[in-house]
Amino acid sequence: MKHVKLSDDIYYLGVNDRRTHLFENAWPLPNGVAYNSYLIVDEKTALVDTVEYGHMEDFLQRLEDILGERQLDYLVINHMEPDHSGAIRQITNLYPDIQIVGNKKTFPILEGFYGISQNLYEVSEGDMLDLGKHKLNFYMAPMVHWPETMVTYESTTKTLFSADAFGSFGTLDGGIFDDELNLNFFEDELRRYYSNIVGKYGNQTQKALAKIADLDIKLIAATHGPIWRCHIDWIIEKYQKWSLYEAEEDGVVIVFGSMYGNTEKMADHIARTLSEQGIKDIRIYDASKTHASYIISDIWKYNGLIIGSAAYNGGAFPAVTSLLDKLKNMYVKNRHFGIFGSSSWGGGGHRTIQKWAEEAKLEPLGPKAEARCAPNDDDFALCDEVAIEVANAIKNPK
Ligand code: FEO
Repeated sequence: MKHVKLSDDIYYLGVNDRRTHLFENAWPLPNGVAYNSYLIVDEKTALVDTVEYGHMEDFLQRLEDILGERQLDYLVINHMEPDHSGAIRQITNLYPDIQIVGNKKTFPILEGFYGISQNLYEVSEGDMLDLGKHKLNFYMAPMVHWPETMVTYESTTKTLFSADAFGSFGTLDGGIFDDELNLNFFEDELRRYYSNIVGKYGNQTQKALAKIADLDIKLIAATHGPIWRCHIDWIIEKYQKWSLYEAEEDGVVIVFGSMYGNTEKMADHIARTLSEQGIKDIRIYDASKTHASYIISDIWKYNGLIIGSAAYNGGAFPAVTSLLDKLKNMYVKNRHFGIFGSSSWGGGGHRTIQKWAEEAKLEPLGPKAEARCAPNDDDFALCDEVAIEVANAIKNPK
């Protein structure tokens, strides 16, 4: 890959991963993902984060190519998750005198994963490391996305090395900076990354955003996805909204779990009623077919959510249960919410969603819409009421 620079002395050293199917072995990567690392060449040299273990060959080659005979003086670890720390051991083998810069929560994880406990350079909130022309300033950002996560602000070029924050799924296919690529594609992959990976840490993301609010930022260099230099306000505004659990648009996500099509009929009926009420963005997902990653992302996008399930062994349908489990700790709020389902011989689908909603503090709108076996006219009338109440709540915000 050609050398790409963020500024005179700062190089992009990221790699694309088009082979891994599941990020964290959990979240689909149909469009791949980029692991971004950065190299600052000054009186002292510093690498900011590394890349995933399986993708370090090209990364190490480019690093050695740029450095030539020079030593690498510092490795700044903003985040220890192995998609960024995977090449640390090789870096310390190549540059045995390197100082590893992290905070007090970084080093136990570093030792745990890689057995490294030497040449540690501990920094705390607000500390500065002088590289010569460039000065690195450190701010702790715990739980965005792990407890040791910090961000590094280089004050000469006003570059924020932001770790996972402002990162995205999707490889960088030629374009690396935000103005070199079409953000229509990345907007969805950014939301999916945030909601899937960082979504449960909204409060901590809010704290991190408050910390960086006073910094004069000209570049945001995240560990995944595009480098931001033209749409900085745009991406920060997205993070503000997402971390406050504020939906971006009016619309309704309907998720259902159906064994023989009866609960699906109720979903279609609800969707048609929503449409008659003027709701234009309606997305129906079969929880058995669509990976939760995409459903969760759309739940972050739209302000309406209606979940339905067939009964299954006294509980909800397994694919719905799995989605509810994933959502349980994400603290989704500010959604106009409805429930429907079919009870068959034992019930449990509607009841399980109801219980989940109580724990999630989401108040179901409308009556109890639960068909016994196949829905009849009375059941569809109850579905209408749920749909109309959700539509009214969307159309008449308080
Ligand atoms: Fe991209 Fe939390 O690692």
